[in-house]
Amino acid sequence: MRVLVTGGGGYIGAVLCRRLLDAGHQPVVVDRFFWGRKPLRGCEVEIIPGDVRDFNPGWLRAVDAVCHLAGLSNDPTAEYNTEANWQMNALGTERVVAACKAQGVERFTFASSASIYDNEASSHELLRSPTMCDETTVVAPRGAYSISKKYAEDAILRAAGPDFSPVIFRQGTVYGYSPRMRFDLVVNTFVKDAIVQKRLYLHGGGWMWRPLVDVEDVAAVHVTALAAPLELIRGQIFNVLEENYQIRQLAMLVAGSLSLVEPPIRVDLEEAPLPKLVRNYRMSNAKLSTVLGFTPSRTVLESITGMLAKLPLDRIDDYGDPRYYNIRWMTLLEEFHLEQRPYASIY
Ligand SMILES: NC(=O)c1ccc[n+]([C@@H]2O[C@H](COP(=O)([O-])OP(=O)(O)OC[C@H]3O[C@@H](n4cnc5c(N)ncnc54)[C@H](O)[C@@H]3O)[C@@H](O)[C@H]2O)c1
Repeated sequence: MRVLVTGGGGYIGAVLCRRLLDAGHQPVVVDRFFWGRKPLRGCEVEIIPGDVRDFNPGWLRAVDAVCHLAGLSNDPTAEYNTEANWQMNALGTERVVAACKAQGVERFTFASSASIYDNEASSHELLRSPTMCDETTVVAPRGAYSISKKYAEDAILRAAGPDFSPVIFRQGTVYGYSPRMRFDLVVNTFVKDAIVQKRLYLHGGGWMWRPLVDVEDVAAVHVTALAAPLELIRGQIFNVLEENYQIRQLAMLVAGSLSLVEPPIRVDLEEAPLPKLVRNYRMSNAKLSTVLGFTPSRTVLESITGMLAKLPLDRIDDYGDPRYYNIRWMTLLEEFHLEQRPYASIY
């Protein structure tokens, strides 16, 4: 299949493109390339530099399926410019969907987010387990990012029909190694902090719950959907996670793993004040396993071990590149652009 991947130059996209090639598909990447093209180096993909806000239906010529990943991909970047976030994540998605329908591209996978389940109530349940959410749970997202994801989901579901078979994946927070590395995702951040600072902070004791999933499993679920019977996936939402973890559990897994490298690295855990905004939610992956027959299997521990084998443990300066941290990089890009050309926002 010729598969158009929006956001294919990103953390998940760079892994997905390689998985598509391994499965015999031909990826075509549409991306703004906020992080540059290096993540796709050595990858046999066709590249269309472009923005989903100006999605050109011509990009879908001879395309059999679309994996839609492009957009601002976390809370801080969405809050930094809420209007751009809305244009990209909400209206941009509507635009891609409309183009697919107009061009007769029936298969469509969407990278939504588990943060849709996060709400005021769950943040007050720190010392109890928050409700286990499934795809039928009524959601009340509260941040610019998750509100835009919910809007995009609703637009996709409205468009589903006999000739358009989209599937929505509510991905947990992702961990693991990618050629476009992110160190602003909780497990990856802990791995980086353990290597660089030899210390991990447990905010509010780290009792918060988070659904988590490895980047290879996320890529694999999109590839699996491309071959799934259409009646199983058309207009369906699936939670995608390996397991729900408490933040303190993740810190212990990272610290324990660092004690096993050669030479061993001792990592201290330290209590820190509760942040203003607490995110605390859990979700179930039962539907994904039973309906689609896919169960994410790469555990946090395996993934940490995998990252430690690939990352330089003795060159701590290597972790300072702002591209590894979405909000740092976007802020720098914005400042640079405005200095060069006033009013020429990178967004
Ligand atoms: N990483 C996670 O933990 C996680 C969890 C749940 C959902 N998601 C979703 O998965 C998708 C991919 O996330 P990621 O971690 O790979 O993020 P990323 O930021 O690494 O990649 C996003 C890619 O999209 C591109 N992009 C952004 N805006 C664009 C636009 N308007 N037009 C074209 N390209 C654009 C960027 O250049 C980048 O290459 C996102 O939609 C994100 O919201 C990610």
